[in-house]
Amino acid sequence: MKVLLTGASGLLGRDVHKLFKSKGIEITGLCFSRPVEGLVQLDITDNDAMDKLIASTKPNLVIHSAAQRFPDQMEKEPEKSWKLNVDTTQHLAQIYKTTSANGGRLIYISTDYVFSGDNPPYSAETEGNPTNVYGKSKLEGEKVVLAADPNHCVLRVPVLYGDVKTLKESALTCLLDTVRETSKPAKISSYEKRNPAHTEDIAGILLDMANKLDTLPGGVYQWSGKEKWSKWDIVKLISQELSMPMDHLEEVAGPSPGGVPRPRDVEMDRSKLTDKGIDHHTDFKTGFLKCLQPFL
Ligand SMILES: NC(=O)c1ccc[n+]([C@@H]2O[C@H](COP(=O)([O-])OP(=O)(O)OC[C@H]3O[C@@H](n4cnc5c(N)ncnc54)[C@H](OP(=O)(O)O)[C@@H]3O)[C@@H](O)[C@H]2O)c1
Repeated sequence: MKVLLTGASGLLGRDVHKLFKSKGIEITGLCFSRPVEGLVQLDITDNDAMDKLIASTKPNLVIHSAAQRFPDQMEKEPEKSWKLNVDTTQHLAQIYKTTSANGGRLIYISTDYVFSGDNPPYSAETEGNPTNVYGKSKLEGEKVVLAADPNHCVLRVPVLYGDVKTLKESALTCLLDTVRETSKPAKISSYEKRNPAHTEDIAGILLDMANKLDTLPGGVYQWSGKEKWSKWDIVKLISQELSMPMDHLEEVAGPSPGGVPRPRDVEMDRSKLTDKGIDHHTDFKTGFLKCLQPFL
């Protein structure tokens, strides 16, 4: 199997690249602003460069993970982000069809933010109804991928944590600073609930999907972690487990204050993957505290 992975320098892509390499799979990983030894530095919004790369690497599988995935940043730079999340995705999906000479498949990484969060759990067939521009761009990305070739796949993933380079890289690991910066009072929501997933679990799911591609129909697949956590639950976990005071933090029962609107609860049904024997879940407390260790 020859794999092309966009976003290999990102939070998710790093673990996907590592796992596939460890299995002896020939994988070309792409990076952009963060050059990494062993990865190819390329702007994927440059259509000609992408065409040449596909022609020269001839992958059987493209995993498209690169995106602008920070909702607040997305709304500050809507045109640039839309170009990356939608236009580039469309070009990649169109040039890389199963009907092409390569005869391969594409898996597009999407998000639970395609849902409004009002009526969980969501099946893979539920029509998306995003609350912010980021969610809209990812839903549009899904549509252009499947319109280009119904054999392509979408994998929706929830909020991720993992082996972060900085705490800010994950919306969850950044809560360590929220707890330990005791001079900064903050309001933390217990209203929005998430089913976080470890990036190693998503990498495992992608490896299983890649190994079962022959029997995996095109369409939408979903993964949610098996535990539900609010940000308030997580700051309490950090405080208790790491013996840090949290008197400067206040629980809010409504939506998180500030920033763009976020969905309340976007738990997704996993059965299309578990029915195929694909199932990877790291216990959140164990996995999350391990990710914080290098920063303590
Ligand atoms: N992180 C989450 O909590 C989360 C939740 C749900 C869904 N997702 C989805 O999961 C996927 C992976 O997210 P992530 O957390 O790994 O994102 P990330 O850490 O922000 O990484 C984004 C990746 O995209 C690359 N990239 C950005 N612009 C590029 C360009 N013009 N040309 C080439 N590469 C470019 C970045 O390369 P450089 O860093 O080298 O510039 C980086 O490798 C995304 O599709 C995202 O929508 C993520």
